[in-house]
Amino acid sequence: MLLRPLKAEDGVLYPDFLKEVTEADLRLRFFAPMRGLSDALIDKLTHYDPQHAMAFIAIDVRTGKMLGVVRLHDDPDGEAAEFAILVRSHLKGHGLGWLLMRHMIANAKDKGLKVVHGQVLAENSTMLLMCTELGFHTTDDTGERGVKRVTLPLKEVPALAD
Ligand SMILES: CC(C)(COP(=O)(O)OP(=O)(O)OC[C@H]1O[C@@H](n2cnc3c(N)ncnc32)[C@H](O)[C@@H]1OP(=O)(O)O)[C@@H](O)C(=O)NCCC(=O)NCCS
Repeated sequence: MLLRPLKAEDGVLYPDFLKEVTEADLRLRFFAPMRGLSDALIDKLTHYDPQHAMAFIAIDVRTGKMLGVVRLHDDPDGEAAEFAILVRSHLKGHGLGWLLMRHMIANAKDKGLKVVHGQVLAENSTMLLMCTELGFHTTDDTGERGVKRVTLPLKEVPALAD
């Protein structure tokens, strides 16, 4: 498996990737029932401003297939940033999400960000557990019912060798 920054050209990998992402997992990621992603949304996800965002893609080097993706978009204050992550559904539970999160956190720390945070549906116990194990603090999201906010102050994170 290769982990590298997401490029605009990777948009062509999304349709195959999304064929193997269940509707339930899409909802956990986007918080709304979705059958798939529109071309416009794929375009938006793959065209980000590297000054204010980063995204990493996991690729199967034998097949060239996209296995998962994690992204981090800076808040307007430039000190904190919000992550989101999605893994090919049948690959869940094999450590890929953990690897992507660690990679994102290490790069956030290198960039000098102070905090990484995310929104997670309260029912998403796998993600909440993983975040706890990664050192995130969990609170209720004040804006949305049924949503947890996970926050990781990066000064609490020891140097990560990934
Ligand atoms: C949430 C998601 C990203 C997790 O990815 P994943 O590849 O299934 O997760 P992993 O296999 O790396 O980790 C999950 C498990 O391994 C543990 N784990 C993995 N590697 C570990 C390590 N090196 N050390 C300790 N624990 C580890 C996790 O805590 C968790 O435990 P469990 O399997 O006993 O429940 C994935 O399920 C997904 O894409 N879900 C849909 C989208 C989503 O929910 N996104 C989050 C909101 S943005």
